[in-house]
Amino acid sequence: MNTAAIIPAAGLGLRLGGAEPKAFREVGGESLLVHAVRGLTAATATGLSCFVIAVPPGTEDVVGKQLEPYAGAAELHVVAGGAERTDSVRMALELVPVDGIDCILVHDAARPFVPVDVIERVVAAVRGGAPAVVPVVPVTDTIKRVDSDGRVVDTPDRSALVAVQTPQGFEPSVLRRAHALEGAGATDDAMLCERLGVTVQTVAGSEDAFKITRPRDLQLAEWLLAERRS
Ligand code: C5P
Repeated sequence: MNTAAIIPAAGLGLRLGGAEPKAFREVGGESLLVHAVRGLTAATATGLSCFVIAVPPGTEDVVGKQLEPYAGAAELHVVAGGAERTDSVRMALELVPVDGIDCILVHDAARPFVPVDVIERVVAAVRGGAPAVVPVVPVTDTIKRVDSDGRVVDTPDRSALVAVQTPQGFEPSVLRRAHALEGAGATDDAMLCERLGVTVQTVAGSEDAFKITRPRDLQLAEWLLAERRS
């Protein structure tokens, strides 16, 4: 049995700024998307046999050519993404083969440096019987819930909170059922599974799996890459 990886890479990255969509911004001379694809192929224990990548409409051909050398033996499909992340994942999911796949990973192009052990932990947990798996790290800030006027409503117990990363891993039929639901307001795929009543399992993530959102994150990524290469 094999793993398929969906990479939503169709976001514009407005918070990051710049003329290009976020996934095409470069760190160390290569796009975030190339780093993300290479990271997933490095996790050899997963048996990755298929990539489906959702990109800004109109860029499918150029991205397909650019990624070919990095996909290795895996099948590569590049599709136009949608208005929201959930739409992009749903459109990509339609191209994931039904036969021979026992785990589907969904991984943000905006997280280029996820360590191999995190990816393999997620896949192992799915193969161990968990229908939905997310890598997490503890939160270091105190988190408060606020109302629309900016007044604090309450302060959840920090020890019970975690920050969620990708790749998230799913038993394929569960992810398909989750995406058949109305996706409004869902910021990740695990949230759709929660709406189905499916139990989502956590595994240890990594600080290196941070998401590139703001300009400062690109500087951190450059630093991390230089550390890894030294
Ligand atoms: O905006 P955010 O950083 O949360 O996006 C997470 C991932 O989802 C990024 O890799 C982005 O390219 C992708 N995305 C997408 N389609 C959208 C919006 C975001 O594929 N419409």
